[in-house]
Amino acid sequence: MKWWQTAVFYQVYLRSFADDSTNSDGIGDLRGLIGHLDYLKDLGIDAIWLSPHYPSQNFDYGYDVINYCSVAPEYGTLQEFRDFLDQAHQRKIRVITDFVLNHTSDQHPWFLESRSSRENSKRDWYIWRDGKQGGPPNNWYSDFGGSAWEFDEHTEQYYYHYFFKQQPDLNWRNSQVRQVMLDGMRFWLDFGVDGFRLTSVDMLLEEPELSDHTVKLTKPELYQAIFTTYPALTNHPNLAAQRRLMFQLQIQQPGIHAIMRELRTLVDQYPERVLIGETDDPRYFGKGYDELHLVFNFPLLRTFHLTPGWVRTNQNQWLASLPAGAWPANILGNHDASRLRTRFCKLEENSSQFNAELDRLFVTLLLTLRGTPFLYYGEEIGMTDLLLSDATEFQDELSRSMYRIQMEDFEVTPPQALRNAASLGRDKNRTPMQWTRAANAGFCPDNIRPWLPVNSNYAQGVNVADQSNDPTSLLHFYRRLLNLRRHASALMIGDYQPLLEELEDCMIYLRSTTDQVCLVALNFSDRLHMLDIPLNFTTAEVIFSSWGREGEHGVVRNLALAPYEIYIAQLS
Ligand code: BGC
Repeated sequence: MKWWQTAVFYQVYLRSFADDSTNSDGIGDLRGLIGHLDYLKDLGIDAIWLSPHYPSQNFDYGYDVINYCSVAPEYGTLQEFRDFLDQAHQRKIRVITDFVLNHTSDQHPWFLESRSSRENSKRDWYIWRDGKQGGPPNNWYSDFGGSAWEFDEHTEQYYYHYFFKQQPDLNWRNSQVRQVMLDGMRFWLDFGVDGFRLTSVDMLLEEPELSDHTVKLTKPELYQAIFTTYPALTNHPNLAAQRRLMFQLQIQQPGIHAIMRELRTLVDQYPERVLIGETDDPRYFGKGYDELHLVFNFPLLRTFHLTPGWVRTNQNQWLASLPAGAWPANILGNHDASRLRTRFCKLEENSSQFNAELDRLFVTLLLTLRGTPFLYYGEEIGMTDLLLSDATEFQDELSRSMYRIQMEDFEVTPPQALRNAASLGRDKNRTPMQWTRAANAGFCPDNIRPWLPVNSNYAQGVNVADQSNDPTSLLHFYRRLLNLRRHASALMIGDYQPLLEELEDCMIYLRSTTDQVCLVALNFSDRLHMLDIPLNFTTAEVIFSSWGREGEHGVVRNLALAPYEIYIAQLS
């Protein structure tokens, strides 16, 4: 087994994690992160996925890179990155960074050169075309809304951008581009990072003819289609399919797998490094050994109701879709999605009350399904989304533009537009980490304004300090569970076998290796369930329980599973 198969990853959104007191500016930084490495070690994670730390214009917070081989001044210096990496490694914590492949910032020196004249030697590093009939070269859209083409007055041509216009797409068909991007990765591999989360791999190539898409939608439908992955504007049944059609010429084009193989050849020159793709297409595993090491099981989280039926179907389909040699990776939240507790644990649709037991159940699921789990910072203390109620506080450009567009083009009332924009954007799930019950939750001093408002629930126990002192807290639960996982090989690497698949309220499965068999039983409901589990094992020793049953020995067949009970037993 490789380290990245048994590891638990924890995503640190650097800007929001911890602002070091020597440069308090309301922005998280590397020193702040170094100061909390012991916390992460105690939590029991094995690897950090660090959100982009590169100099950036921050239109898309680090996903618009100005220099691939440096550190943004607000986060620190290269020397501080070195300290961070060394200190993480000393604690046996690996570090992977985001690597932004598809586009750069429009302020990157390469793009400044490229746009300076049609004859510039880097002109072809980006995708420049003449307009057609007084408009853009084709009818393609940006994933973030509006045309995917931006006119440049100076050279009178359009450039292509899949995301914001401040993020021009690199031309991956140009061999020099491939070379400089590989050089950028090599820089960090030489530096000692343990791998990369590769962003937007699906979008690297475009259909060469740049043909128009043929989807006909009204403008409101179009906007709903573009944002169909977001709840606020979605109510049209065919939009997801229309959306796929609309973007099909802009994603997953032939040639993409050859690029993946080039990247893999590079990282294979270094021992023990990993490539994780921001995609849910198992074809990126290639033959199982020649493209990416991991891709995300995003389909698992494409629901608002994580039911046993949903999870079982997901597992059955997802595991079956992986080529031989591929290893799964599961995730229930990240910097682009609603937080786990908000999305899946609300008591009722519009309620601000949460079912904390469900929260424990879902993280148990994440940590006991087959595959590498990815946690998102703050989940371990039950942080929730914060919907901003003042548009001037928006930091995510997506919220800003959606707010404007809804009012200008669709005559949505300002309060409604504000609510939609706040839930559509990603500020809600990127608020500062809540460390203590002091002002600003201990993220930065009280006389400093954090870059995003802190969720006020830090004062009601949603903070690390309070939960550290409380053995019944969610944080303790995470620590216990992570500790269990680390010592139970079946939970880390075992096969997955679903049982009693007809049950609507409970999810029961085995994880087994030749040395150990674990039974995981999760009751997603508020009712007691009497289960007759058809197994030939004679005894079950409870190794984890939300009902204090650890150490109990029982017979396997008859199990009374209490409301929301989490039960893990070792069978013999
Ligand atoms: C990131 C998003 C970002 C997008 C475009 C993705 O990889 O996860 O946060 O907006 O790339 O840059």
